[in-house]
Amino acid sequence: MPVTTCIFDAYGTLFDVNAAARIAANEPGHEAFADRWPEIAGHWRQKQLQYTWLRAVTGEHTDFWTVTQDGLDWALEACGLEGDAALRKRLLQLYRELAAYPEVPEMLGALKMQGRSTAILSNGSPDMLQSAVASAGIGDLLDDVLSVEQVGIFKPARAVYDMVGARFGCAPDEVLFVSSNGWDAAAAAGYGFRTAWVNRAGEPVDRLPGRPDEVLADLTGIPKLTGG
Ligand code: LAC
Repeated sequence: MPVTTCIFDAYGTLFDVNAAARIAANEPGHEAFADRWPEIAGHWRQKQLQYTWLRAVTGEHTDFWTVTQDGLDWALEACGLEGDAALRKRLLQLYRELAAYPEVPEMLGALKMQGRSTAILSNGSPDMLQSAVASAGIGDLLDDVLSVEQVGIFKPARAVYDMVGARFGCAPDEVLFVSSNGWDAAAAAGYGFRTAWVNRAGEPVDRLPGRPDEVLADLTGIPKLTGG
């Protein structure tokens, strides 16, 4: 079956999750943070994701903005910066305006030229996603922005991937699912989507039942995968 629909993860895939910490590290007044920002950004992302998985397993759902704040609070405390309320506020503000990776607009434009449907499928809460899409200026290149808040559970619950067929009326093998999160690509492959894992950091493949069909270093090669 040809690919009709191209679905993107948001954080880490279209939007650079480390951009908030990188920008804040270069601002005056954040010298203590600047020394350790890569470590804090790593803790922030790891805790944010762990909290989504743990809340999905225990059925204690809350929205992604809450786990984003909880992950940041853990990371700041781990590095002795929990008392810096202004830094916390600034990092959260920057997180709502994350930059898209530079190749994103052209890549989405090429998919639209091919006549593909395009959408985000993300853990992000609708207001976070709207804000990121607007600041990246890519709203016109997306047919929809789907948030897990519609089903009340985080990825990789199957109910989240079910949202794609429900919205676009397509079979799983007509979907190319694109994620930079190895576990998300693995789960989407297990679900039956064709998958592309964007492995910017050159990480090993996740040892999970599903394996991505394609592994790319960035998003520029996506239109070639859907152009046939
Ligand atoms: C998302 C997270 C997993 O956007 O990055 O769903």
